[in-house]
Amino acid sequence: MRTQVAIIGAGPSGLLLGQLLQRQGIDNIIVERKSGEYVLSRIRAGVLEQGMVDLLREAGVEERMDAEGLPHDGFSLAFDNRRVRVDLAELTGGKKVMVYGQTEVTRDLMAAREASGGQTIYEADNVQPHALDSDRPYLTFEKDGETVRLDCDYIAGCDGYHGVSRQSIPAERIKTYEKVYPFGWLGLLSDTPPVSDELIYARHERGFALCSMRSETRSRYYVQVPLDEKVENWSDARFWEELKRRLPEDIAAKLVTGPSLEKSIAPLRSFVVEPMQYGRLFLVGDAAHIVPPTGAKGLNLAASDVNTLYRLMVKVYQEGRTDLIPHYSQTCLKRIWKAERFSWWMTSILHTFSDHADFDSRMQQAELDYVTSSEAGLTTLAENYVGLPYESLES
Ligand code: APR
Ligand code: PHB
Repeated sequence: MRTQVAIIGAGPSGLLLGQLLQRQGIDNIIVERKSGEYVLSRIRAGVLEQGMVDLLREAGVEERMDAEGLPHDGFSLAFDNRRVRVDLAELTGGKKVMVYGQTEVTRDLMAAREASGGQTIYEADNVQPHALDSDRPYLTFEKDGETVRLDCDYIAGCDGYHGVSRQSIPAERIKTYEKVYPFGWLGLLSDTPPVSDELIYARHERGFALCSMRSETRSRYYVQVPLDEKVENWSDARFWEELKRRLPEDIAAKLVTGPSLEKSIAPLRSFVVEPMQYGRLFLVGDAAHIVPPTGAKGLNLAASDVNTLYRLMVKVYQEGRTDLIPHYSQTCLKRIWKAERFSWWMTSILHTFSDHADFDSRMQQAELDYVTSSEAGLTTLAENYVGLPYESLES
């Protein structure tokens, strides 16, 4: 088999890249380890920046998002039993975010790919990239007991944090930066109306809590838990009780509880690999970087990498501009490090740290108090939350 761009992984990165390339007539094949149903069963993030919304539009998958997504022009920070609204639209000259689940984005991209005749090979075992530093790279994998070889011009490693792409780069050619936080998020999804029509990020001495949503009838809530906590120890009743204790009283009083559809614990991590390319392999999305979910940046950063690689491939195939290829990593990393900073900062001011002295705790309070009472502070918060501009390949 032969294609122009071989894409490893059919998560949001791989599917979005595939769809954008497809629309420009750039041939691509996606090779995914799991089944399509499995990919859709993962409950992930839900807040899209304007840049990602625009890119989904460019990929032609805006119809259901426009009909069912919820545009949000603000969110709240809760602390010391009070709430401060961050008016995103007012602070950023009209920018907002869209609440639309990653699962739905993935579903729409899968449907668009099927409609456009793009090929995705699901349940491919032992995917391996080869000859990355030559001009004839290829993939091998096993499908239905047969070994398949896929020749290509370029490989997009869209295979997430645990994927094979990053691991295929010789260790001495990359450097990784990592910070592991000493807690996780226990998330619960339920068919209950959201407690508020905007997101609420809450700092509390018992730990952080977040009220989010997927629609007007489906809520997503999170509470900070110790890293060694087991989801089996959390009945729905215990979760709701703990969540209420961490929210301002008026909000807690309004919370509608119900049976969970899903409950899981996710660890928090900051991670970046540099550079994000090796020969003809480009790393995209979670394969190259992880952020703690506090700033809602994970999925959005994946989209900005896709944007960069997509524009690069268009230059290569439509204008013969291979000179921009070495710019991929630095273009992506400029934006990634700023989102890493924002996610780390949001995490560090809103969570309870077991090793914190009383002084550190007062610093968190003072920082929240300052940021939410200063126009400059709120503007900084808002412009990062709605998403910094995409970087240009040529700068
Ligand atoms: N071979 C083929 N496919 C693989 C391999 C492999 N060796 N390893 C992983 N995959 C697949 C996974 O099964 C998954 O479907 O790659 C896909 C990677 O998808 P994600 O982990 O969702 O990563 P990405 O597409 O970059 O999505 C961006 O940002 O912060 C997050 O929640 C956010 O998951 C989202 C991500
Ligand atoms: C979510 O809805 O899952 C969500 C929203 C905002 C975040 C993180 C997760 O910061």
